Amino acid sequence: IHVDWDAVTAEKGGFEHFMLKEIHEQPKAYRDTMRGRIDESGKKVVLPELKLTPEQIKGINKIQIIACGTAYHAGLVGRNAIESLVRIPVETDVASEYRYRSPIVTPDTLVIVVSQSGETADTLAALREAQSHGAHVLAITNVVGSSIARDADDVIVTLAGPEIAVASTKAYTSQLIAFYLLSLYLAEVRGTQAPEEIAQIIAAMQALPEQLDSMLAKPEAIKAYAEQISKHEHLFFIGRGIDYAVAQEGSLKLKEISYIHSEAYAAGELKHGTLALIEEGIPVIALATQEAVLEKTVSNIKEVSARGADIMAITHEEHVAGLLKSVNQVFAIPKTMPLLTPALSVVPLQLLSYYASLARGNDVDKPRNLAKSVTVE
Ligand code: AGP
Repeated sequence: IHVDWDAVTAEKGGFEHFMLKEIHEQPKAYRDTMRGRIDESGKKVVLPELKLTPEQIKGINKIQIIACGTAYHAGLVGRNAIESLVRIPVETDVASEYRYRSPIVTPDTLVIVVSQSGETADTLAALREAQSHGAHVLAITNVVGSSIARDADDVIVTLAGPEIAVASTKAYTSQLIAFYLLSLYLAEVRGTQAPEEIAQIIAAMQALPEQLDSMLAKPEAIKAYAEQISKHEHLFFIGRGIDYAVAQEGSLKLKEISYIHSEAYAAGELKHGTLALIEEGIPVIALATQEAVLEKTVSNIKEVSARGADIMAITHEEHVAGLLKSVNQVFAIPKTMPLLTPALSVVPLQLLSYYASLARGNDVDKPRNLAKSVTVE
């Protein structure tokens, strides 16, 4: 047999770049991160690794989620899941700011630090700051023996496998899965959700890997759109609620590897200033997956459309026809529960950044000025 792959290509599993390989590994990462954390009935989350006792969980009066970059964006989705399922107030902080705002943290605060590498200096420093106030610190990390995993009081390991590309993809989505599992577990212990509701969310989570596979099998539309936006220097992402959280992640990913300037805005915030930047032909990517605020998002879409923006919307199949009245293109994602949509809606944005970076001839896996692990403050 003649195999004409060199060692590096083989490491990339036949993909042109680590990033693309890692995007395609997400269905497996979802399955691996869920494995052993859902009981045999398929109706309950079990987190045997947690040292946090049910009594401690019942005593939590506030949660702080602290992280950097993409891990911080996972934390924004985590906040939404915890607040809606567990009804505990959650604050989110970028780790480099946390210590300097004199955070109010007590032994009844659960602090969750999120870090793919487990070595990010600011996140580690925030962990220590929280511990010095007596808080219990739970780390969500991808690296078992990392500094953050070692120093935290509790660890939930994401089983995404090694992530090589500087741009984080499968680590982010595995962090989302970890947050969903944790939220469901806290909800079980505190009795804030009916068992049927929990079982329904678990079933929807278990369907995610296959839904993801179906999206990854059809990258053509996103690739064509990426080539179109690669000719632009500025663009906007808009969304409401968790769509806004995903918009922020999409925007970071795009900047990081394509070097196109982009900004993510809460859709309702545009008219408070940013609308002045919308002019003829500027690309706007609108995330419109949340039924509860769809009408409001559509009215924000109309505001930018009236100023000549070239809009691409990401939504569910059933809203495609309606949205096409106000936008130029639509990309449909499979239907899941509103809470879980980030685990699917971020994927077209990852692919978009990847193909835009490729179209601009950039080094996709090693973007300029950036390191995979940031060990300086
Ligand atoms: C993501 O694409 C970035 N490379 C970056 O924002 C990263 O998520 C951040 O530096 C945090 O890293 P960590 O998860 O290893 O702590």
